[in-house]
Amino acid sequence: MLGSNLAWAAPENSPWGKDYFPNIELVDQDGKKYHFYDDLVKDKVVVIDFIFTHCGDTCPAQTASLTKVYKLLADRMGKDIFFYSISIDPKHDTPKVLKEYAEKFNAGAGWLFLTGKTDDVTLLRQKLGLYRTGIDAAKLNEHKTSFMIGNDATGQWIKRSPFDKPQVLAGLIGRSISRSPDDKKENLADYSESTVIPKLSKGEDLFRSRCESCHSLGTEDGIGPGLLNVTQRRDRAWLARWIKTPDKLLAKKDPIAIALLNQYKKVLMPNFRLNDADVEALLIYMEDSSKAAQQNDSNK
Ligand code: HEC
Repeated sequence: MLGSNLAWAAPENSPWGKDYFPNIELVDQDGKKYHFYDDLVKDKVVVIDFIFTHCGDTCPAQTASLTKVYKLLADRMGKDIFFYSISIDPKHDTPKVLKEYAEKFNAGAGWLFLTGKTDDVTLLRQKLGLYRTGIDAAKLNEHKTSFMIGNDATGQWIKRSPFDKPQVLAGLIGRSISRSPDDKKENLADYSESTVIPKLSKGEDLFRSRCESCHSLGTEDGIGPGLLNVTQRRDRAWLARWIKTPDKLLAKKDPIAIALLNQYKKVLMPNFRLNDADVEALLIYMEDSSKAAQQNDSNK
C-alpha cells in the first residue's frame, strides 16, 4: 500500500471525492494493481498526467519537466506526494514498456507509470478535464499535456502546464500538503511565491520553456546532451533541421541523428512544431550563450 501522512478524509461537500472519480483498475510499471480512487488518490496529494511512451511530440518534454519537479520534491515523494503518469495508449504501453520509460527519466519512489483499459482511461481523462472530444479521440499526438495537481483531503484540484517553471510547480505541490480542509478557501493557485520574470529574448524564452527540461547550456548532460558550443560543433543547417523536425531526420536515418539517439537511451527529442523564426531565435540564443561562456572562461 502507498503510505500517507494525511489523517483527514475528503470533506463531505467536496465535489471531487470518491463519488466523482471512477475507481478504475490500473496497473503500474511493476505489474502491481490499484484502484484509482481508493489506492491512489484517497487522502493523498497527487500529480496526474497522461502520456504515451512512443510519442515524438511534446510528451517526452512533459515527462522531463516533471522530472525536474520530482527532484525538487524528492524527500517527500512516495511519502505524502505521488506522481502518476497514465498511458493513453494501453495497447502499446505494457507495464514492461512503461518500466523502461520510467528508467529513462530516472523516476524513483512515488512516481508510478500506469496503464489500464482504454475506455477506463478515457473516462478518467474526461473526469479530470483533460480530454477534448473529437481531437483526443482521433489523434494521440494532439492530446492535452496539461496535468492536474490534486489534494484529496481539501478537495482542491488545479490544472497546470508542464512548461511552467519547475520551482513554481514544486512550490505549488509542496504547499498544498500542509493544508487542512479548514483553509481550503485560500486560493491554491496564487503566484505569490513566483518571482517577477524579467523580459526574456524570444530565443531564451523558448529555450527555457521548451528545451531546458532536457538540456543545459553547459557541458553536463541531462536527458539530452549538454548544448554548450553545439553551434560550433555542428553544421548550422543541420541544427536548424534537427531542432525543427528531429523525427523527420530520424525517419530518414540521418547518421548523426541515429548516433545521438543511440547514445541517449533512445529518448526521442520532441518535435515542437516550431517555425523557422523560432528556430533562428533559438540558434542565436545558443550561439550567444556559448560565446558568453567562453568569455567568462577567458576572464578567469
Ligand atoms: C524530452 C527531452 C528533450 C527536449 C524537451 C528537447 N530535447 Fe534536444 N535532445 C534530446 C535528446 C534525447 C537528444 C539526443 C538525440 C535523441 O536521442 O533524440 C537531443 C539532441 C539535441 C541536439 C543535438 C545535440 C548534439 O550534440 O548535436 C540539439 C541541438 C537539441 N537537442 C536542441 C534542442 C532544443 C533547441 C530544444 C528546445 C526547442 C530541445 N532540444 C528540446 C532531448 C530533448
